[in-house]
Amino acid sequence: MPRDIIIDTDPGQDDAIAILLALASPELNVLGITAVAGNVPLPLTQKNARIVCELAGKPDTLVFAGCDAPMTRKLVTAEHVHGKSGLDGPQLADPTMPLQDQHAVDWIIDTCRAAAPASITLCPLGPLTNIATALTRAPEIKHAIAEIVLMGGGYFEGGNITPTAEFNIYVDPEAAHIVFSAGLPLTVMPLDMTHKALTTKPRIDAFRAMGTKVGDMTAAWTDFFERFDMEKYGSEGAPLHDPTVIAYLIQPELFTGRHINVEIETQSDLTLGMTVADWWRVTDRAPNCTFIGDLDADGFYKLLASRLATYS
Ligand code: RIB
Ligand code: CA
Repeated sequence: MPRDIIIDTDPGQDDAIAILLALASPELNVLGITAVAGNVPLPLTQKNARIVCELAGKPDTLVFAGCDAPMTRKLVTAEHVHGKSGLDGPQLADPTMPLQDQHAVDWIIDTCRAAAPASITLCPLGPLTNIATALTRAPEIKHAIAEIVLMGGGYFEGGNITPTAEFNIYVDPEAAHIVFSAGLPLTVMPLDMTHKALTTKPRIDAFRAMGTKVGDMTAAWTDFFERFDMEKYGSEGAPLHDPTVIAYLIQPELFTGRHINVEIETQSDLTLGMTVADWWRVTDRAPNCTFIGDLDADGFYKLLASRLATYS
């Protein structure tokens, strides 16, 4: 029985590859895709989500626009990483598939209200504004949520937008605090792990060798996306953050982590958005998430390539 999921996203090249992976995986049933402001403003993230669905040949996918700014702060974007469009690389035609009229948060609430207990997995790939707003407005929807598996945070790796904060958490730390305090089963895919999932040349070549539009686009997006991280970290390739969330749902055995307490810094300007992970369990704070520290990177890319290769 496929697992019902909602992908909450701010495409973003890595978000785009995560969506392609999800739409090519029979283990998953994508109930809908909800766009949030993050890497680029909302008008672009909702448009990019539809571009990816059309690239995947799935124009009937329900795509919704959600929150255009964090719950209480000004939006911070990441064009320096993803380009002005958020999907820089080859120019892509504007989507023709419709954007759903309903606000993403209202749709998440309605969908969860109507769902069976513990039947929906939420997969946030961007700032947590939509998810936190839905949980705040309708706390009763928790009954329908089996698990939240999100990309965000970092501990040993520090931050990627400030010395201590990862971008998704940093953009809306209040939203992150709400999600991490919701008492729901939560699995976190942080920089500690995604920085071990690098787009090396052989891995990108495998995408290009597919000889398909999806393969070519994935290779082009990773070519564009990796220039920032390679310059910054001197690494061979860039971390392919968001697809690890989807890969975890399909093959969790590729990942290892610890059930620990993670709190979000929302007060200090210096460390705003830091995920304060009690990895060594030095406090008596109750564990609230499974914090993933490592992955089988070859196994991850093998899974990703095998699924993307199913697109004609
Ligand atoms: O820090 C990496 C995260 O921020 C990824 O989800 C990327 O798409 C951006 O949203
Ligand atoms: Ca993202």
